[in-house]
Amino acid sequence: MTPPASNALMQELEPNVRALLDRHLETAREWFPHAMIPYSRGRDFVEGEEWSAADSPLPEAVRSALLVNILTEDNLPYYYNSISGFGGSESWQEWSRRWTAEEGRHAIVIRDYLTVTRAIDPVGLERARMHQVSGGIVPDTASAADGLAYVTLQELATRIAHRNTGQLLDDPSGTAIMSRVAADENLHFLFYRDLATTALEIDPSTMVIAIDRQVRNFAMPGTGIIDFEAHAKLIASVGIYDFSQHHDQILVPVVLRHWKIAELQGLTPEAEEARERVLAFIARLGKIAQRIADRRAAQLATASA
Ligand SMILES: [Fe+2]
Ligand SMILES: [Fe+2]
Repeated sequence: MTPPASNALMQELEPNVRALLDRHLETAREWFPHAMIPYSRGRDFVEGEEWSAADSPLPEAVRSALLVNILTEDNLPYYYNSISGFGGSESWQEWSRRWTAEEGRHAIVIRDYLTVTRAIDPVGLERARMHQVSGGIVPDTASAADGLAYVTLQELATRIAHRNTGQLLDDPSGTAIMSRVAADENLHFLFYRDLATTALEIDPSTMVIAIDRQVRNFAMPGTGIIDFEAHAKLIASVGIYDFSQHHDQILVPVVLRHWKIAELQGLTPEAEEARERVLAFIARLGKIAQRIADRRAAQLATASA
């Protein structure tokens, strides 16, 4: 059988998109950003009351995580261009629009929280948002298959980063907001993961080649943010998002256990090669993750001795 081209793949996925979209609409709970913001803690940014680092006791790493999380959410609605362009049916277009609207809500709630609690310099944040969104950095996915693989990994990564950031906030309002957003990301993840699972049944070779490409080149959606590398290092240093989460909570459960790519049958020679490559990559990453976990455990043991 000739593998379907990317548009054809999306056409073939139409009934699944409809079913998954219906499931999403039934599962997603309506919620309102304004109802979660502790407005009574806010005050005007008037002369003499400008933001200062002393306004918020947050550790630098947590502030970095919040900055990357909000700028990511700010930028996500612009992914609409890429996502709706995967092609396919009206149901896919409906999903793309709905997803975009939900990502916009995440930016609203996190920004309002940051502004009211003075967690981040609002001037620096606004300049960073202008830079990020004006830069137009969106995922460059070669095909719908690549796109599905990427967004599955990205939504799960975002869920983990939001939830872990919330756990370190030491503020029940902030923790609740980040958990609420993470719960939405989980629904996005399930939508994309399950669609990719069906795509693997329809055209396993194309999907495996795409998964290999996307896993090896995966970058968090914050790429393009000023000083992203430095922020990413800080974020990893407190365990919000690092190699071990990436390996243990994303690649192993999704690529190996759920998509079962080691067990797929009937792959083309090119897809077999891609499978070998990505399995070796994941195994290598697992070793690095283990070394990091061992080092952290040793540091903790030393610190508590
Ligand atoms: Fe989001
Ligand atoms: Fe999302």
